Amino acid sequence: MSTTMDSIADHGRAHHHSDVDRTGTPLIDMRDISIAFGGIHAVDQASIDLYKGEVVALLGHNGAGKSTLIKILSGAYKRDSGEIFVRGEKASIGNPRDAKAYGIETIYQTLALADNVDAAANLFLGREIMTSWGTLDDGAMEAEARKVMGRLNPNFRRFKEPVKALSGGQRQSVAIARAILFNAKILIMDEPTAALGPQETAQVADLIKELKKEDIGIFLISHDIHDVFDLSDRVVVMKNGQVVGSARTEDVTKDEVLGMIILGKCPPGATPGPGAMKE
Ligand SMILES: Nc1ncnc2c1ncn2[C@@H]1O[C@H](COP(=O)(O)OP(=O)(O)O)[C@@H](O)[C@H]1O
Ligand SMILES: [Mg+2]
Repeated sequence: MSTTMDSIADHGRAHHHSDVDRTGTPLIDMRDISIAFGGIHAVDQASIDLYKGEVVALLGHNGAGKSTLIKILSGAYKRDSGEIFVRGEKASIGNPRDAKAYGIETIYQTLALADNVDAAANLFLGREIMTSWGTLDDGAMEAEARKVMGRLNPNFRRFKEPVKALSGGQRQSVAIARAILFNAKILIMDEPTAALGPQETAQVADLIKELKKEDIGIFLISHDIHDVFDLSDRVVVMKNGQVVGSARTEDVTKDEVLGMIILGKCPPGATPGPGAMKE
C-alpha cells in the first residue's frame, strides 16, 4: 500500500500488519441495505464489503442492527431495498439455501449442533456418506471428520464423544468444520465468543487464523470491541441501524472505535458512513 498508510500503521496503533489484498473484486459487497420491522428501521442504508482472507469485525451496541444486516446476507431476512454482490455479480438471496449456494455459511451463537451424536455425525448431518449397500459409511465420515478437524483444531481428539460433552471452544470448531465441509467461502460468525471463557476465546481466535489462511472471508459480529479488535483486518461500526464508519484496524485505536460505537464519532483514520455524527 502507499507509504502514507504504512507510516500511519507504524505509529504504534497496529498490533499486526494486515496483508489482505483489497485491489480486486470483493467477495461480498452489500450496498445501501435497508429493512424495517413495523416502523423501526432496523437497518438503514447500510453498506459493507468483505475480501478474501479478510476478517471484518461488525461492531455496535445491542440493537444496532448487526444481526439483522447479516441475516439479510444469510437469507434469513428479506431486505426492503439495496443490493448484494457476490464476487462482483449481483446476487439473488431469498432464503438460506440461496446463500449457501453462494458459499455463505452462518455460525449462530447457538451453534445448532445435534448434541447427542459425535463430531462426524454432526459434520454430515443431512448429507451422510452411504456405502454401496445403502448403509451409513461411518468409517468414511469419521476419516473425513478427522481430516477437516485436523486442519482447524489439530489437538482435537474427542471424535467418539457426543458433542454435548465437548467444551465450548471444541463445539465451536465442530460448527465451523461443518461450514467448511459445506464449502463455505464466506463465514458469518454472530457473537462467537459471547458464551466462552478466555481460554476458549483464544481457541476461536486460532480457528479464525486458520480460516484466513484458507482465503475464507469472515464477518465477525460482536458488541464487544475487546473480543474482536486484534482478530480483525477492518472494523465496521453500526449504530441505530446505520453504519457510523469503517476503518482498517491498523488505522484506528480501540478508544477511537469505542467513540464510534458509543457516540457515533468517526475518527480521522476511518471512512464515515451515513450514521456518522455530524460535527
Ligand atoms: N424479527 C424482528 N422483528 C422486529 N424487530 C426486530 C426483529 N429483528 C430485529 N429487530 C429489531 O431491529 C433492531 C436491530 O436488532 P439486531 O439486528 O438484533 O441488533 P444487534 O444484532 O446489533 O444487537 C432492534 O431494534 C431489534 O429490536
Ligand atoms: Mg445481534
